[in-house]
Amino acid sequence: MTTSISRRHVLVSAAALTAAPLLSAAPGTSPPARSVDARPLARRHLGTLEVSCLGLGVQNMSRTYQTTVPSRPQMLAIIRAAFDQGVSFFDAAEAYGPLEVERILGEGVAPFRDHVVIATKFGWNIDPQTGVRNPGLNSRPEHIKQAVEGMLTRLRTDRIDLLYQHRVDPQVPIEDVAGAVQDLMTQGKVLHWGLSEMGLGTLHRAHAVTPLSAVQSEYSMLWRGPEDAVLSTCEALGIGFVPWSPLGVGFLTGAIDAQTRFADGDIRKLESRFAPENLPLNLKLLALLIAWAAQKQSTPAQIALAWLMAQKPWIVPIPGTTQLPHMLENLGSASVQFSDHELNEFNHALSAIQIHGARLPETVMVYSDVEAPLKK
Ligand SMILES: NC(=O)c1ccc[n+]([C@@H]2O[C@H](COP(=O)([O-])OP(=O)(O)OC[C@H]3O[C@@H](n4cnc5c(N)ncnc54)[C@H](OP(=O)(O)O)[C@@H]3O)[C@@H](O)[C@H]2O)c1
Repeated sequence: MTTSISRRHVLVSAAALTAAPLLSAAPGTSPPARSVDARPLARRHLGTLEVSCLGLGVQNMSRTYQTTVPSRPQMLAIIRAAFDQGVSFFDAAEAYGPLEVERILGEGVAPFRDHVVIATKFGWNIDPQTGVRNPGLNSRPEHIKQAVEGMLTRLRTDRIDLLYQHRVDPQVPIEDVAGAVQDLMTQGKVLHWGLSEMGLGTLHRAHAVTPLSAVQSEYSMLWRGPEDAVLSTCEALGIGFVPWSPLGVGFLTGAIDAQTRFADGDIRKLESRFAPENLPLNLKLLALLIAWAAQKQSTPAQIALAWLMAQKPWIVPIPGTTQLPHMLENLGSASVQFSDHELNEFNHALSAIQIHGARLPETVMVYSDVEAPLKK
């Protein structure tokens, strides 16, 4: 390793966990934190791509959900501390910032770039030079190629390890997208590719042209949609799965309670699952997590991530954070194991909990489960 940062055994302090108002409001239920395991973070495979069993989502490193701008030196420190703890998988997108998050990630991983997997995404209609976001999507092959040139510069690298199409473009056959990615692979500029929130037919068609390594869609105890068909399709095709918002956009950590109201500009304000009438109902899920956290000597966030990893060995969550103690807490989930009996018991209790409200505003939902047009 070229980094000067050495691996160390970090104990997550109780103070680091005080962002969980519901935990502190429930006497006797506050679990001790799991420390980050002293052993190397386990590895998993997304198709043929090897990554750490947990990645780091860096989406909010230029602007948080609360719309605050985090300190850049602190974000670089989190990226480097994550690597120090064994994280080799970092998830960005051209749209985050736009462009700025790729710059932060490129700077963050520069000292050890050859030892990590950089994932990023194209697909929104963003000017690759200026970052100006025009309406809608753009996966035209020439636009993808221009976007990738910009990514390589911002990420300070000569190749993108995992390139996703962020959303399916209803104007562009997926065969054309797969062909453009194949050209980039032939040039060595892209090593693996994936789709995000795509329709199932599009997944099959894309894989038939240029085999995919990963699908990235929302998946957590709060939103279990991929269990309907996406996960079984990934399994059948040998494609890995990367759950986004694996902590339910913070809900599964205990950081949101019945009184929480979101700021203007925070997308969670527009998600009806967090509406004042639904929050108290959905907190039944958090109560289940808190009970399991106490039983497993861990935290709700750690249970949420461990549960995802327990579903399939080719699932790699990418929890997002802008706080060092949260990043360390989240990595502690790698040491939480469930026996088959425990998992059955957990899933039985989970299946009795109904989540109220929609996961995304309608204006955003329309971009999910889209099928690309057929190639004429
Ligand atoms: N493909 C897509 O369309 C798509 C969409 C959304 C996200 N993503 C990717 O998925 C990654 C993760 O998703 P996400 O950030 O939306 O949701 P998430 O990981 O489910 O939750 C992130 C939220 O939880 C908080 N948090 C994280 N760890 C915590 C802890 N231990 N205790 C308390 N709070 C904690 C974070 O705040 P703090 O910063 O304060 O910790 C943040 O508000 C993103 O970074 C991005 O790379 C992809």
